Amino acid sequence: MSSSPERFSGLASLSEAKAQGRPIVAITAYDFPTAQIVDEAGVDVVFVGDSVGTNVLGYATEREVTLDDICHHLRAVRRGVARALILADLPYQTYETPDDAVANARRLVADGADLVKLEGGREQLEKVRALVAAGIPVCGHIGFTPQTLFVPGQKGRVQGRLRAGAEALLADARALEEAGAVALVLELVPEALGGLISRALRLPTIGIGAGRECDGQVLIVHDVVGFSPRTLRLARSYGEARAQMAAALQTYAREVRE
Ligand code: KIV
Repeated sequence: MSSSPERFSGLASLSEAKAQGRPIVAITAYDFPTAQIVDEAGVDVVFVGDSVGTNVLGYATEREVTLDDICHHLRAVRRGVARALILADLPYQTYETPDDAVANARRLVADGADLVKLEGGREQLEKVRALVAAGIPVCGHIGFTPQTLFVPGQKGRVQGRLRAGAEALLADARALEEAGAVALVLELVPEALGGLISRALRLPTIGIGAGRECDGQVLIVHDVVGFSPRTLRLARSYGEARAQMAAALQTYAREVRE
């Protein structure tokens, strides 16, 4: 996948990219300088995801992330992004009812989100419809859904390996599109299923650990630049930011002491 120099000027760009067979490049960012760098690198969509909890805030799970946490990081990212679309997560338990979903998503939009993401399939349709009716663009998220499935210390498990699970995910994807979602994250599903779902839908799919046949890919920025201490199966590292930062700081400390 190559980064696109074209400006992602609005939500229509997402479906246009799919229609033109142009892969969508997405990545997370949680702060102002990183937002500037990813935007200038030509990324199409910047995710202010609840992955901020485990990657930046030192929480054990995404479940600890609050709406205030997301809004705080979202405002910083908004200040750094000039061209990409910004997607923000509705954190765990902030969309228990359609009214909650709309009220909390309005805060995300006010703080700079172009679209909001919630996890789950057919059980979330009422909320997706309420958000769409309120004029708030929605991205779905199915497959491995960290808010409910993540267990600290354990690797995420691939979803939809068996026929029944795969059929359920396809039905979820179709229902979310029907309810008005404009994009869909597929996390940790087999490559063939990622391709099948992507071909079955008009909306673009954005995969993370879902194979090469999705309409786009998203990764955690810390994994991409090599800032995370971990190596995930689903994430490819393109840099050594952690090692470079440690070396720079050790040199600084040594020079001061000398
Ligand atoms: O929390 C997040 O950042 C996400 C994406 C990585 C899919 O949900």
